[in-house]
Amino acid sequence: MEKKKFYITTPIYYPSAEFHIGHCYTTIIADAIARYKRLCGYDVFFQTGTDEHGQKIEKKAEEKGVTPKEYIDPIIDNAKDLWASLGISYDYFIRTTDEDHMRRAQQIFKKMYDNGDIYKGEYKGLYCTPCESFWTESQLDEDGHCPDCHREVHEVSEEAYFFKLSKYQDNLVEFYETHPDFIQPESRKNEMLNNFIKPGLEDLCVSRTSFSWGIPVSFDEKHVIYVWIDALSNYITSLGYPEELDDKFKRYWPADLHLVGKEIVRFHTIIWPCMLMSLGLELPKQVFGHGWLIINGGKISKSLGNYKDPREYIDAYGVDAVRYYALREVPFGNDGNFSEDLLVARTNADLVNTLGNLVNRTIAMSKKYFDSKVENPGVTEEVDDSIISYAKMLPSLVETKMNGLKVNEALEDIFELLKRSNKYIDDTTPWILAKDETKTDRLKTVLYNLLESIRISAILLRPFIPTTSDKIFNMLNTKNIEFDTLDFGNLETDITLNESEILFQRIETK
Ligand code: MSP
Repeated sequence: MEKKKFYITTPIYYPSAEFHIGHCYTTIIADAIARYKRLCGYDVFFQTGTDEHGQKIEKKAEEKGVTPKEYIDPIIDNAKDLWASLGISYDYFIRTTDEDHMRRAQQIFKKMYDNGDIYKGEYKGLYCTPCESFWTESQLDEDGHCPDCHREVHEVSEEAYFFKLSKYQDNLVEFYETHPDFIQPESRKNEMLNNFIKPGLEDLCVSRTSFSWGIPVSFDEKHVIYVWIDALSNYITSLGYPEELDDKFKRYWPADLHLVGKEIVRFHTIIWPCMLMSLGLELPKQVFGHGWLIINGGKISKSLGNYKDPREYIDAYGVDAVRYYALREVPFGNDGNFSEDLLVARTNADLVNTLGNLVNRTIAMSKKYFDSKVENPGVTEEVDDSIISYAKMLPSLVETKMNGLKVNEALEDIFELLKRSNKYIDDTTPWILAKDETKTDRLKTVLYNLLESIRISAILLRPFIPTTSDKIFNMLNTKNIEFDTLDFGNLETDITLNESEILFQRIETK
């Protein structure tokens, strides 16, 4: 049977400065979902990349006295290195300066023009360069600044091309109505409808002449394509659109999930769908707008400079501690605090105390009592049910949570099995069983049940903390590590465990 496909994207990031933990947040979550879907048997296409044009980058490069390309190339090499150190398993990394992308973005612009959806006019308005966003007077904040970043906007007036967003207003509303899951969480849909769509969509300025760092409009070269039109196109140019319709594009489009931060939901749920309607293409299945990681009440931002290189956290605490924190700490969709203290507390509580302890205690007992040999004579007692019945339903609990993108809750459910297992040790008191020769078989079963719940947890944890899962599989010396071996009882009984290794070191706090 042919595998079902799953196309998931992160936003393409501006390489205007080095990436911070906020960018890691989206990307780690996308990675965990992509890995989860792969393990469920989907043919996954996971894409990330960089959004490299626009006035902001042009200015930054100018300040440094280099060309835009010279400015961004090292940032992108560094970003790729960061993704490698976080174990990000993307299938494709798109850069909007890629020749293929530029040519295809021009073709997309031309197609919308040929369809009568782009026309020439004059633009007068307010522009926020850091956000690369146009605003109307009424959208500005109380101080007359950009409502997103609260910095100054400036007036621009120039000949420009416009995209007929207004033409698609009714189709868009109808699409929202007939696809109630399109925008998640629900509150973001209402925000789009009330703040942007109901007041009436205005045609969008989609070209600029006042700077040159962008993709030229193919039929009017003094214009460059508005950076958001260029950027949003990435989701299809990477699949070959509009040149190679038979291959990747047919396979993977429409996207199953665009993961984006809350401030760019409007680009993905208004402008992008209208572009696709103009092109006569299917719309993505879902756009999920997540919250921000906040430091001391404010957004972590390159321009505010309040961040550390994420690799410092990875070096200090390990890649899985950072991944786990990003995935577990904040209910997905909400804003959440980021601090090193919280990262340390989370690591000590969950990864050291709950997971690490369970694994090390269990493996140590197997070694001490049975020379690390795994056996299960099947001497069961009622107390076993506290882990066995939970372990049996856990895969479907996790599936439900993951399908609803409640990633933190999926992890909570998996950790519940680990907690129950720790309690099971206290309840069954293996050290007392070990003193009574008539209880040897019971002790074997107790240890088997513990090892089995560790194996099942490690399989389910693979998408989230893959390095740790691999270490556990290695200690268990088991070959049964795939989702189709999740049934309780699949741990081999003719194996000998390997030496245990410490999974997470307790982090000392002041
Ligand atoms: N280039 C555009 C996206 C184009 S997608 C076709 C862009 N780039 S960005 O670099 O400014 O932001 C990219 C993503 O990073 C956004 O989804 C944004 O929400 C996310 N984050 C940036 N800082 C963040 C936090 N502090 N916390 C969580 N995510 C944040 O917008």
